[in-house]
Amino acid sequence: MTPMNPLVERIAALKRQKRAVVLAHYYTRPEVQEVADFLGDSLALAVRAQSVDADILLFAGVHFMAETAKVLCPDKKVLIPCPEAGCSLADSCDAAAFAAFKAQYPDHKVVSYVNTTVGVKALTDICCTSANALQVVQSLPADQPLIFAPDRNLGSYIQRLTGRQNMVIWDGACHVHEEFSLEKLLALQRQYPDALTVAHPECRAYIIEVADFVGSTAAILDFCGRSDAQQFIVVTESGILSEMRKRFPDKSFIPAPPDDESCGCNDCCYMKMVTLENICAALETESPVVEIDEETRRRAERSIRNMIAIR
Ligand code: 13P
Ligand code: SF4
Repeated sequence: MTPMNPLVERIAALKRQKRAVVLAHYYTRPEVQEVADFLGDSLALAVRAQSVDADILLFAGVHFMAETAKVLCPDKKVLIPCPEAGCSLADSCDAAAFAAFKAQYPDHKVVSYVNTTVGVKALTDICCTSANALQVVQSLPADQPLIFAPDRNLGSYIQRLTGRQNMVIWDGACHVHEEFSLEKLLALQRQYPDALTVAHPECRAYIIEVADFVGSTAAILDFCGRSDAQQFIVVTESGILSEMRKRFPDKSFIPAPPDDESCGCNDCCYMKMVTLENICAALETESPVVEIDEETRRRAERSIRNMIAIR
């Protein structure tokens, strides 16, 4: 039997002692996923955060995800083991700049992807994740003009699916999903002709066009389980691969490479900043905690709850 990592043992003891629960996103390191009580995509994590029975909620993910948990659970202590773990997509939409942009479109309702700061969520009518963006947009009357923020790729994907022309899209993007190379993906498709290509909707339109399935992290996992195919080319962040291989050991998963392979771009560097060391330290010290001013929190809560209501 392989000996247990002492950090894993310490984290388990601290969780028991402090009634703490660890929520983790699929993009975190495999060893971080192993200490999680609940593993999910952005939507599942937001929904789960509301009903966690614990005194402390530790969020193993990026900053906006921990903020979302705090918005939904203001009375809980929400720990973020690495507050520097940001998100290039959330960073591409500054709240003050977004407020000025929104002021240009007074008749528009705002749909924002959860990959935003709490300040942008407070300016939003209804949030969405990659799992429910289509349902969220379809829940609004077809003649209602919309602002969609901040991901231009998800926004234009939804626009193509709905044919909706009355949508203004903020010009933001995720550095991981934008970097996949079409040329290298087509070469992989030629090399593995029986493989199905699965892609996240944050990828560029030319990648989505050649994918067999497009969906959120959880939807991709679900598709790989349901499909009869044995091989999949995976065009999303590489953290999902450990869960895929664990759930479907008889299938094979081939990561699609980014344009510049030297930069390791199909890894989200922010998600990988969460480690067993900083999780353990956060549980020991019960810090850093996520703090949000109450007025902003209340406004952001409305837009997140509007999303959860229609899921
Ligand atoms: P999901 O909505 O699939 O969890 O995506 C989160 C994310 O950060 C994608 O880059
Ligand atoms: Fe943000 Fe992209 Fe990382 Fe997701 S993969 S957390 S969108 S930087």
